[in-house]
Amino acid sequence: MKILAIETSCDETSAAVVEGTTVLSNVVWSQSNIHSKWGGVVPNLAKRAHQERIDWVVDQAIKKAFSGFKPNKDTLENKINAVAVTIGPGLAVALEVGINKAKEVAKHFDLPLILVNHIEGHVLSVLSQPRPTHKNHKTQVVDDYFPALALVASGKHTDIVLIKEIGGYEIIAHTMDDALGEALDKAARMLGFGYPGGEMLEKMAKEGDTRKYDLPIPMMGRESEFKFSYSGLKTAFWKLVEEEKPLDKKKIQDLAASFQDKAFLHLERILKEVLTKHKTKKLFFGGGVSANTELRKRVRKICKENNVEMLLPYSKKLCGDNAAMIGVAAYYKYQRGEIVRQKDFDKTDRLPRAKIDERLTF
Ligand code: KG4
Ligand code: ZN
Repeated sequence: MKILAIETSCDETSAAVVEGTTVLSNVVWSQSNIHSKWGGVVPNLAKRAHQERIDWVVDQAIKKAFSGFKPNKDTLENKINAVAVTIGPGLAVALEVGINKAKEVAKHFDLPLILVNHIEGHVLSVLSQPRPTHKNHKTQVVDDYFPALALVASGKHTDIVLIKEIGGYEIIAHTMDDALGEALDKAARMLGFGYPGGEMLEKMAKEGDTRKYDLPIPMMGRESEFKFSYSGLKTAFWKLVEEEKPLDKKKIQDLAASFQDKAFLHLERILKEVLTKHKTKKLFFGGGVSANTELRKRVRKICKENNVEMLLPYSKKLCGDNAAMIGVAAYYKYQRGEIVRQKDFDKTDRLPRAKIDERLTF
């Protein structure tokens, strides 16, 4: 059972081929150098870049999955069983590019379409497997995992989700304003770094002193409300940076360390509260910020204290936006018969505000 998956919800143009949960190929074209100087994703630039790259990433994903395959001469018939695509949440103009391409390929080869929620992709990214010959491959009996919790920390989302079963979700905690990744990106920008700045902030923070500056931990004493909020911390940080100007390397390192520490502490405090209330055996941890080594360490420690196993994607490439995670989520949807036939393609449309706990009606 093989699926060609496409992901264009934000600023990564990506295509992948999965066989069950095994990733045969995963091609990610990042647009970060296009958006870097603007301090965030510019929708129309993202749309154009997706349009320019989509055919290339799909061709590459197929070539890599089936060595020797020539997309222009050979045919995909009998090789692929379905085409999956991110339906939302994300930027409408960006989602459309992937959806149109997925429909085009599915129509051409007479295949069904599988519509995948982007956050479900991040959640299930931890179940993806490399090829059996890969050192990180492991046999997993997934049925034993549930109910489980998932923490998704990305540029647009900070969610803790209860996975009752694969396909059945309940949002336990979410953000009221900025997402964790977004907050890290904005802090990095205040320190003079381009977009996205999370990785650069991590690098600076590693050399800095977390206690050098006094910044507030958001929502102190209100953890049981299960709400993330980063806007107050962001404003306090902006004031602090202004006071500290002109900045030198040492100041930047200490500021980065102080901000990252408080941003993570907020997440840790809520996670601890959630793990006390919802007893599960596993915590799935995905999204771009799950690539952060310090945050991994802190989340792993909390999990250990609560007798919970933290599960991460087998490669950091699967933490950020990628099509392989969409393929893995699509595999489970295919098994449940959640597919769209050709006659219904026109009824489907992008869902920029899709929620993981809402069932798709088509
Ligand atoms: O999952 P993702 O690729 O996109 C969304 O769905 O939003 O996440 C992107 C976010 C960005 O905010 C980026 O700065 C952050 O993930 N990120 C990191 C690291 N690598 C990526 N944040 C902290 N540390 C990192 N190493
Ligand atoms: Zn994402």
